[in-house]
Amino acid sequence: MTCCTGSGFLEIMYKERILKLLRASGTDYLSGAQLASTMGISRTMVWKHIKALEREGFGIEAVPSRGYRIITVPDLFRADDIRRGLGTRIFGREIHLLPEVASTNTLAMELAARGAPEGTVVLAEAQTAGKGRLGRKWISPRGNIYVSAVLRPPVPAYKAPLLTLMAAVATAAAIRGAGGAPALIKWPNDILVAGRKVSGLLTEMSAEADRIRHIVLGIGIDVNMDPDLLPDEIRAITTTLAGETGQAIDRTELLRQLLRSLEHWYRVFLDDERRVLKEWESFNCTLGKRVAVSGQRELLEGLAEGIDREGRLVIRLDNGEARTVAAGDVTILKKI
Ligand code: BTN
Repeated sequence: MTCCTGSGFLEIMYKERILKLLRASGTDYLSGAQLASTMGISRTMVWKHIKALEREGFGIEAVPSRGYRIITVPDLFRADDIRRGLGTRIFGREIHLLPEVASTNTLAMELAARGAPEGTVVLAEAQTAGKGRLGRKWISPRGNIYVSAVLRPPVPAYKAPLLTLMAAVATAAAIRGAGGAPALIKWPNDILVAGRKVSGLLTEMSAEADRIRHIVLGIGIDVNMDPDLLPDEIRAITTTLAGETGQAIDRTELLRQLLRSLEHWYRVFLDDERRVLKEWESFNCTLGKRVAVSGQRELLEGLAEGIDREGRLVIRLDNGEARTVAAGDVTILKKI
């Protein structure tokens, strides 16, 4: 979590300030005496905080009579870094950051039920029981993004699927913006790069007939993980942003872009949901293709013709009949 009280809070504050000063000095050394006098603490306390930063994974070089400087930074999220320059009003107004959790969605649903404000974000470095769509598992090793956001949209429950499409648009846009990978959306909300899945979304909701109490948008993005950590059958259909772009991705920057993008598209959704559908269509790689849809009572095969106003997929079967599907797994068979 990102908060604490009393002396623990002061300790974190001093450590964060030392980190800030060291970062600002770049490749120049900062002496223990300089740090101590700027901060108004003893050199022993400075040394203690330097050791704490090293335990968090920072590589800090200490040279006698010159001082300290950072030589390597860990690929770990820090709530302060995420907030810096974020510029959102809703998404990330509360950030719960954990090294590991069963599922960010489950925790976000619990926090929402206890009154967490709209825009509360739960973020984890790893999940031990990550949840995928249709009751599947989401394997969640370190190096990726696992994030869930609480929303309280003033719309009826039947519009929830549109929020999932909104989140897919926001995620695809953020991926394109942050690393330049040409992300496309496979209905309803799988994000693909070069035909392989790089991100998945899971929406969970608590609702009454005519209103949503809260909704949790859960987003997993495969960023820098080692693909060898995945079972063969999943690795074959999955990719990572690092693998696609050929370089390690700054996860904090990508997360910031994602939160900004969600904020933008959530506002668009509240204003005019047709614009979300239009953007979804421009990012989609499903429409106009011959597809098979499973997860229904029957396997449907036909032309993916369009999506309706509620975000459902319209398929034209070979006998000319049009069928509408609200949920399922799409396999793209070939281009028509
Ligand atoms: C899918 O494509 O099947 C959906 C995957 C959703 C995974 C994300 S990771 C963050 C959030 N927490 C979860 O347990 N699941 C979602």
